[in-house]
Amino acid sequence: MRMVDVIDTKRNKNALSDEQIDFFVQGCTDGSIPDYQTSALLMAIWLNGMNQHEMQRLTMDMLHSGDQLDLSDIDGIKVDKHSTGGVGDKTSIPLAPLVASLGIAVPMISGRGLGHTGGTLDKLEAIPGYQVEISEENFKQQLRDVGCIIAGATGNIAPADKKIYALRDVTDTVDSIPLIAGSIMSKKIASGTDALVMDVKTGSGAFMKSEEQAAELARTLVNIGKGVGMNAMAVISDMNQPLGKAIGNALEIEESIELLKGRGPEDLKELVLTIGSQMVVMAGKAETLAEARELLQAQIDNGQALETFRRMIEAQGGDGSVIEDYSIMPQAKYHVPLPARRAGYITGMKADELGVASMMLGGGRAAKEDKLDYAVGLVLNKKVGDPVEEGECILTIHTNRPDVDDVIELLENNIEIGEKEEVPELKLIHEIIE
Ligand code: URA
Repeated sequence: MRMVDVIDTKRNKNALSDEQIDFFVQGCTDGSIPDYQTSALLMAIWLNGMNQHEMQRLTMDMLHSGDQLDLSDIDGIKVDKHSTGGVGDKTSIPLAPLVASLGIAVPMISGRGLGHTGGTLDKLEAIPGYQVEISEENFKQQLRDVGCIIAGATGNIAPADKKIYALRDVTDTVDSIPLIAGSIMSKKIASGTDALVMDVKTGSGAFMKSEEQAAELARTLVNIGKGVGMNAMAVISDMNQPLGKAIGNALEIEESIELLKGRGPEDLKELVLTIGSQMVVMAGKAETLAEARELLQAQIDNGQALETFRRMIEAQGGDGSVIEDYSIMPQAKYHVPLPARRAGYITGMKADELGVASMMLGGGRAAKEDKLDYAVGLVLNKKVGDPVEEGECILTIHTNRPDVDDVIELLENNIEIGEKEEVPELKLIHEIIE
């Protein structure tokens, strides 16, 4: 088989055969297909899509490109969560220890930043010493000892995804339902979880801009999960503005810890409790969502969730004193306020462009080999709907370069100030798909 014929099939809007998909995934994994041909096929898939059968095949091939974790010797129902990616979306970081503090095993395999979105692994690496590469043996041991782990795809989990994920990031082929579905579900099935809540983002900062696309992606993910016997569901949540107030790696760790201390922004807390309650019910630890929410709130109030986070950090080689002292993480040299050019109300904050602003500061990757600056990012003082006075600080830019005129221009063009009646109604949770 020739890769050029596989590309030709999809370029001409035809369905790929099972053999063609097998050939592509095999060639990606063993390196026999060069990046330029993989990239061409990714673009053809982005343009012309895939049917349900192709998506299932792609997912299963990506899954079988590597190993699967067998967690059957760990007691109880293992529950995981995965987001399709957003700006300021640090939900997984407080959520895993919070749920695990109730005695539920949370084996979380996460990814790195993709496009304008941040990556959970990148954020955790802002904590000095934190290791995301964990052997299968240690992965299981930590799950038994601490109850949760957030790590990269261990050793040989879905190696095809590692290759494809990095190329999608730099070929503008991230926001494709089949590619997202294959990427997420291959890793999640491989991680051996019994139940999974997907957080499918919708809005300007999400890969799925419209609610219809998000619902289609959510249904695809749930169907693939159920097809392999997983208890899968999806929450469609809003990404028309960043989640929480912090965007940037170390800054988001700080905000996650604040949340577990009972502080932190309301929208982040609401999302963590919404998804967490679903996980607790799926794990059989509560009968109703309301009961689950109360259990979770108690774990924040009594400090158990925070303590579980410290234990998770330390089990993964990180410095647990970060819980008390945020300054052990990299800190930016300069703090530049962005003043409001007029008085009024914040009527829009294009989340994707705020993500790009953080990337321009060094908080995300423009090329796959880029090194991150963990210190930089944005801290919002205002969110959509908030009133502002002229000259009042809308957000603070945390930067290691003194000249940020390019970032200021981008931000000014993407934060709208208008009249009160122009403020859009942004609901956080759009839909739950089971
Ligand atoms: N998360 C993933 O793991 N893969 C994607 O493609 C998007 C979000």
